[in-house]
Formats: sequence, structure tokens, C-alpha cells
Amino acid sequence: MNQTDSKKIVIAIDGHSSCGKSTVAKQLAKQLGYLYLDSGAMYRAVTLFALRNQLAKNGTVDEQGLIDRLEEIKIEFHWNEASRQNETYLNGENVEEEIRQLPVANHVSPVATIKEVRQAMVKQQQELGKNKGIVMDGRDIGTVVFPQAELKIFMTASPEVRAQRRYDELTAKGQQVQLDEILKNVEDRDRIDSGRKESPLMRADDALILDNSYLNREEQLKWAVERAKERIENC
Ligand code: CDP
Repeated sequence: MNQTDSKKIVIAIDGHSSCGKSTVAKQLAKQLGYLYLDSGAMYRAVTLFALRNQLAKNGTVDEQGLIDRLEEIKIEFHWNEASRQNETYLNGENVEEEIRQLPVANHVSPVATIKEVRQAMVKQQQELGKNKGIVMDGRDIGTVVFPQAELKIFMTASPEVRAQRRYDELTAKGQQVQLDEILKNVEDRDRIDSGRKESPLMRADDALILDNSYLNREEQLKWAVERAKERIENC
């Protein structure tokens, strides 16, 4: 192991939905030459499987039905040179676009409350991070997946700011969405993610808080890079 390898750390970024975790996590990974892993994409892919197989509809999920078919779900990430990002594959099919749409967003939080689903995802996430040099974002990364992560960041912003950002992102992609519907989705997910029994969204005691309601992308990245360099120096 050379000097650089021995200094690789794990960076866990948790926080509320739509507060820009993935933006900062991706930029940070790029600056450090680390792998970026979007744990939410894995829960989204499971949700898409449930929707396609009539195991989720109208906001409800057939929990036992989904648990029984968990073994059929294979999730992978493959690098796309054109978009310069990892894209999510469900059983060999690129589902990166589809998992970001509202039907999946509306069912993902109930799917993510299922203990067996979480156990299967956490196992894969730990495997992907075992060599360090990774930035992973989600809800339980600093608390459950990597409680020993050298740097933990807990991100938040007001629900209105988050809904507006998600609205801008989806309309820029040409999707027809309503701001009030998105705000409701953001608030519903906050409630379910924070109130669930299994690995609720919670700040780890040793996580640093990043409230980016009034920070732009450059400012938040600068803050995160400085924190990461401090930790790399000290480990
Ligand atoms: O991008 P956004 O913050 O809106 O959501 P995401 O990170 O794609 O995650 C989608 C949903 O998956 C969240 O609302 C959580 O319910 C769930 N999730 C989770 O329970 N644990 C994780 N580590 C990541 C996501």
C-alpha cells in the first residue's frame, strides 16, 4: 500500500431529500479522485422493480411480496463516458432516467422502510466502500453503513428551498411538474425518513452540519473540500 492509498478515507453525506447531497458528493469525489456512490439510487431501483411488478401502487407497497422477490433484483452502477457519471442498472437495464421520476419518488420512502430491503442494500454498500476512497450519500451512511467514516456531513436546507431546486431541475429536463406537488413530496419524505423505525434519518453525533439554504454550489464545495483535506491530513 503506498502513501496515498493509506490516506484514503470514507466520506458519508446524509441529509434530507433534495438538499443537494448528490451534487456536493459528486463534485467532492471528482476533486479527490474518489468513487461516488448514490445509495438513494439503489432504493429507487428497488422501487421501480416494485412498481413494474405491481408490488407498489397508489402510494402503498406489498411488503411481503417485495421481500419474497428481493433475490431477483440486481443493481449495478456503470460509468457513462458521455455523461461522465455512474448510471444505475436494474437487472441489466439502464434505469437512470426512470428512477428520478415522480412515480418512483412517490413510493421510494415506504419501500426504504422495509428492514429486509435495507439489509440487502447496506450489505452491497459496505462491500463497495471496503477499500475506502469513496463518497457515499444517503440517509444512514454515517450512522449504519459506515459508522467509522472519517468524515461525516449532515446536509439540510428549508423544505421550500429544496422543493424549488427540485422543481427547477425537473422543468429544465422538460418535465411537467407542479411546485406544490413537489413540496408535498419533499415534506412527506422528510416525515417518513425521519420517523421510520428502521435506520431513521438522523444526524450522527460526530457529523458536521452543512445548511446550504443560502450557499451556492461553489461555496458548499469549497467548505466540503476543506473539511475532507483536514481529515485526510489527520488520518
Ligand atoms: O435525491 P433525494 O435526496 O431526493 O433522494 P435519494 O437520495 O435519491 O433517496 C430517495 C429515498 O430513498 C429517500 O427519500 C429515502 O427514503 C431513501 N433512502 C434511504 O432510506 N436510505 C439511503 N441511504 C438513501 C435513500
